[in-house]
Amino acid sequence: MAKLPTTSGTRPRGTRAETTEAPATAPQRNKLQETGVSTIDWLDERTSLSAGARWMMFRKIPKGTNWFYTLGSATMFAFLSQAVTGVFLAMYYDPSATRAYESVRFLTNEVFLGEFVRGMHKWGSTVMVILIFLHMARTFFFGAYKYPRELNWVIGVVLLILTLAMSFTGYLLPFDQRSYWATTVGVAINGTGPLVGPYLSDFLRAGPEFGATTLARFYAIHMLLLPGIIAAMIGAHLYLVARLGTTAPPWIRAESSPELREDSK
Ligand code: HEM
Repeated sequence: MAKLPTTSGTRPRGTRAETTEAPATAPQRNKLQETGVSTIDWLDERTSLSAGARWMMFRKIPKGTNWFYTLGSATMFAFLSQAVTGVFLAMYYDPSATRAYESVRFLTNEVFLGEFVRGMHKWGSTVMVILIFLHMARTFFFGAYKYPRELNWVIGVVLLILTLAMSFTGYLLPFDQRSYWATTVGVAINGTGPLVGPYLSDFLRAGPEFGATTLARFYAIHMLLLPGIIAAMIGAHLYLVARLGTTAPPWIRAESSPELREDSK
């Protein structure tokens, strides 16, 4: 059988092979950069993705834009963090009424970094709810709900309801005494809502009583249905932000149109 060529040849074990391990020289680095650029060019020629990215990212922003305008992006990053940590939790979680509690206990106490990831997911949900309210307050006080951004406000309201529904459905999953009874009360309160209330409760419980299938239903809603709708809604929300631009702060608007100022009346 022919002997395969080696880069090490007969050099003693543990010494460096100059041909493969030497640091890249300037021409080699240029070549690497060119390869990267041509790969992006190749992709772009076929998808025109860069035009979309430029349209989304490089926009003119109004004078007076300040730190309060980062609250929407902060909410989005909280959602992304929830999605990533949620995937790792789902690797160990078992949505069965008899095994759920034990799977969470195992994840928390035995799995490497399990408690940390669970903590991030748990506290992250609170952070996301706080951020979404702060972002909503910013858009409200800056009058960003007015023409032509009413639809984006409505999408925002849907996002708020979905985010609260995520917290509600996630709360049952550890399946301990507190989460079980809190959810029992929560679903009963839902049932008192007008018209759809009782149907919504039956849907959440997967029947008239809390049963073995309730947990699986909450899990499916929590990790598939709601995140899917939230991701799509965030996409629509950001599309409208890029299309309409953001609203200038009210004091800047008043400056640029003197007829809006109180003292001009
Ligand atoms: C998952 C939840 C949400 C995410 C990820 C999100 C994300 C964003 C981002 C990144 C922006 C642009 C930057 C900024 O103004 O902060 C924005 C703008 C906006 N958001 Fe949200 N948002 C969410 C929920 C909401 C809610 C609950 C409302 C109101 C009920 C809302 C209403 C608006 C409006 C009206 C704008 C336009 C702001 C302007 O023109 O100045 N959003 N959102």
